[in-house]
Amino acid sequence: MVGGSIVRGGPDDSAIPWCGRDPNQSGTLSRAGSDPDVAGPVIEFEKHVPKIDPNQLAKFVDPLPIPPVLQPVSMGADPENPKLMLPCYRVEMAQFLDRVHRDLKPARLWGYNGSSPGPVLEAQSGKGFLVEWHNRLPLKHLLSLDPSIHGAELSHPAVRNVVHVHGAKVPPGSDGYPEAWFVPGKSAVYHYPNRQDATTLWYHDHALGITRLNVYAGLYGMFIVRDEHERSLNLPSGKYEIPITICDRAFNFASQLEYMRFHNLPYTRWVPEFHGNAVLLNGRIFPYLDVEPRKYRLRIVNVANSSFFRLSLGDGAPFYQIGSDQGLLREPIEQTSVMIAPAERADLIIDFSRYRGKQLTLNNGVAEMMQFRVATNGGQDSSALPQKLREIPKLPPASAARTRVLTLDEYFSRTGSTMLTLLNGTRWSAPITENPVINTTEMWSLVNLTQDTHPIHIHLVRFQVLDRRPFDVAVYKKSKVLKFTGPPERPEPNLRGWKDTVCVPPGIVVRIIMRFEGFTGRYVWHCHILEHEDNEMMRPYDVLPVGKTEAS
Ligand code: C2O
Ligand code: CU
Ligand code: CU
Repeated sequence: MVGGSIVRGGPDDSAIPWCGRDPNQSGTLSRAGSDPDVAGPVIEFEKHVPKIDPNQLAKFVDPLPIPPVLQPVSMGADPENPKLMLPCYRVEMAQFLDRVHRDLKPARLWGYNGSSPGPVLEAQSGKGFLVEWHNRLPLKHLLSLDPSIHGAELSHPAVRNVVHVHGAKVPPGSDGYPEAWFVPGKSAVYHYPNRQDATTLWYHDHALGITRLNVYAGLYGMFIVRDEHERSLNLPSGKYEIPITICDRAFNFASQLEYMRFHNLPYTRWVPEFHGNAVLLNGRIFPYLDVEPRKYRLRIVNVANSSFFRLSLGDGAPFYQIGSDQGLLREPIEQTSVMIAPAERADLIIDFSRYRGKQLTLNNGVAEMMQFRVATNGGQDSSALPQKLREIPKLPPASAARTRVLTLDEYFSRTGSTMLTLLNGTRWSAPITENPVINTTEMWSLVNLTQDTHPIHIHLVRFQVLDRRPFDVAVYKKSKVLKFTGPPERPEPNLRGWKDTVCVPPGIVVRIIMRFEGFTGRYVWHCHILEHEDNEMMRPYDVLPVGKTEAS
């Protein structure tokens, strides 16, 4: 871990079995082409690239930017029914300058429509729309690439982009397949049918081999789906509903983004994780938000490359979690802290009426991230926090047509640092192995053979987490037999809703269950630590039409 420990949760992190992570210390790194068994020369990376220490910056001097909701600019034919016209949005990826803190110089960033995070895309459940994604980025990448990573070879253009809406149920051609990238000057029109429940989604770059760098440069934004049921609950809305993206970055003394620099190398070497010392909320370091003394809804997305955040209030007071990745939970859950892994979402209700005229921070563990300034007076709070949020019918394990056991793997160099991460021992380019039939339910056992927690994400579907269970890793590695060393445990209450990303801790099997519906075709599943995803911890999978079996 490089760049300070601010992004880890509080000192109590190790006590959390579900999402706690082993610090992955790696001062040196070696990598030899693509063979996990051969170690290359050891390359020192610069541990001490001069970086701004955010704790030296004035706190809470910049207002939290609220990304605007995008408006459609035209109409376009519905690809499912050309007689129907759909609203069409236009989004441009471009490079721009932005100050991430009042006292820093403007940083060169990449973003959608000139900001990072980009504008909020708002969908009504069941009402489809089109988005024209334009690539207006420069031809030179903002960060340096590692050409030894699959898909990032020197034969490819350095700047390549494709947009994926994380958690969206979309046809394969609009899902942002990692190889469907396009270069500056080009564009793609994607169709979002939005036939799914109200929830907080987010869009981000997904180009093969350079996703970690494209997202790090700033290519992410929020996508909110609303529906009638959620509206009927009368949750805090309008200006009392705040979208917040959280990520960590590092900045050099010229106020520019630093990813990872190596001695004697003209390009970046892949690193197994990235942790920055500056936490950005909606693109600002230590922002503040003026609030009224009433209930607010905070829709939080972890858009970081590798870092987990443990959200809590500065005074340790409880708040409510009402939703996770794929929408509302069954009921509000009282929490004093919530851990979110990369790509996970937390939908929170915080009642500021107890803090009239006071200030309160939102923390990551013990570290302050942002400040709420609570006014002494405010209008009437007519919003509600109902005791029941929605029904979530359980998917019974017996309904699974098929069970798959899939391993999470890491390979080490001779210096002991990670150099390759895989799913089920297979690389990206290997033939398809996961091929569920449409409208069937499958149960996947995610078997973590590594020392790290991996947030595993599957495109297209929403799943339920059945349980997690410790097993003997050594026995599994030798004989492929799952020898359990403890009883299965149910996930925590806030993980019992619909999810699309799940943490699999070291030495644990996590069982998830999901129904593949909506579309047939090619999708992907992967680890959402972007460094892992870029270095082969991602697999294509096919949803097959009825009547097809994997043999055909
Ligand atoms: Cu957040 Cu494959 O995506
Ligand atoms: Cu996704
Ligand atoms: Cu991983």
